[in-house]
Amino acid sequence: MPASPPHDPTLLAGGAAGSRALGPLVETVLAALAEGAAARCGPLPGGGPDGVARRVADRGTPVLPEQGQGAHDALRELVGVLAEGAADPADPHCAAHLHCPPLAVATAADLAASALNPSMDSWDQAPAASALEERVTAGIGALVHPDGTAPDALVTTGGTESNLLGVLLAREAHGPRVRLVCGAAAHHSVHRAAWLLGLPEPLVVPTPQGVLDPAAVDEALTRLDALECPAPDRPSPAVVVATAGTTDTGAVDPLAALADVVAAHRHRRPVTLHVDAAYGGPLLFSDRHRPRVAGIERADSVTLDLHKLGWQPVAAGLLTVPDRSALAPLGHRADYLNADDDTEAGLPDLLGRSIRTTRRPDILKIAVTLRALGRHGLGALVDAVCATAEEFADLIEAEPRLRLRARPGISTVLFRPHGATDAQVATIRRRLLHEGQAVLGRARVPDPATGRPVLWLKATLLNPHAHSSDLHGLLKLVLDQHDLPADLRPQDPPR
Ligand SMILES: Cc1ncc(COP(=O)(O)O)c(C=O)c1O
Repeated sequence: MPASPPHDPTLLAGGAAGSRALGPLVETVLAALAEGAAARCGPLPGGGPDGVARRVADRGTPVLPEQGQGAHDALRELVGVLAEGAADPADPHCAAHLHCPPLAVATAADLAASALNPSMDSWDQAPAASALEERVTAGIGALVHPDGTAPDALVTTGGTESNLLGVLLAREAHGPRVRLVCGAAAHHSVHRAAWLLGLPEPLVVPTPQGVLDPAAVDEALTRLDALECPAPDRPSPAVVVATAGTTDTGAVDPLAALADVVAAHRHRRPVTLHVDAAYGGPLLFSDRHRPRVAGIERADSVTLDLHKLGWQPVAAGLLTVPDRSALAPLGHRADYLNADDDTEAGLPDLLGRSIRTTRRPDILKIAVTLRALGRHGLGALVDAVCATAEEFADLIEAEPRLRLRARPGISTVLFRPHGATDAQVATIRRRLLHEGQAVLGRARVPDPATGRPVLWLKATLLNPHAHSSDLHGLLKLVLDQHDLPADLRPQDPPR
């Protein structure tokens, strides 16, 4: 990379002169990103943790030099080493987690968020950003709860914080005895939320079919009273936590039937429905796939992550509610941020819109993306990754050396080589990681043939631009692994 003219590293990013200060630095960053990706030349760096740590030690040292090395040099070295050592979700062979390739348009908006640096905890730090957040969160709330009284959403750091907030709202509504009733495949953050909030251990309903059975949830709710031996006039309060898109398989619980069960129990106990749709919520953008989450609109709170199936840079989490009055328990006073007299004088009170204080304007990239692509544009991306997952599943079914566990859940496909042991499956994944060839996930879930949990390779396909040749290539990498017998070597994929 040619040397750039010296740049005063104390210049500020904001103000009228900010863009002039940023421009040359952004060019250096873009060049370092491109060079790093070219040097890596794959979905992740080869050499495993030791190789990466060595390269970071070489280029990332000294951490705090006595004399600064200048803005361009620092950016070139550190952005370069990060890009070269990245697990890059924009590479179609990087498909382990709900870790999406961010859209360029959203990433560009995030640059503006950093330059302007609004903090969303008080209006005087974020006048336009807070007004934008109010409009956009109302719009997203209405997407999820079209018939809600006053739909709204809170912006969070992701599914973990949204689930915590959903459970917190249930505790505030029903008191500290509230019991979570969730499926065996519920995300670990649901259990952590109960623990953090000092609630009883969740009641876990087995899910032999991979999704919550409404009859089993009905029975679990009925059983709660016997578990707790309360006074007959004080039936146990509960929150049913359903999942729309499980982490391991992408399975969607039958939301409408679960909403019916909750509604039926409301006659005799305080009970609410929280849906963790961190993964599956964006199916709502797609005309083709939205019926898969029918019933979501009846939930009392919904977790939705746009840094999964929404192609946003981290963080872009949301918690939606059908009626913003449900958020009242989060209200909080701190004189320096929302003094009563300021609020009475008309300054918006933002502190109750999060459990955090200082908070980035993550709404900007979300707002820009919604406007740039529209619902149809986002729906087309959702359709594309679901179609990619179907195609990948077809290829696995057509390959006699591989076993497909089940048809895809949203965009998640589980498979394993025929006859492989769990240890071999784990080794295949780690070798691909170590050689920098592919990032595949793992999931220990029941084998439909035996009902016993076994280890599967997991592809979470979130790249809307992946081609058939990428999918063939990914399967070839798996089959090429050395611990498979030589007679299982694949043919070259069609181009
Ligand atoms: C179903 C589900 N819920 C919640 C989460 C947590 O989301 P985050 O990692 O954004 O906190 C995940 C993460 O993968 C998830 O799959």
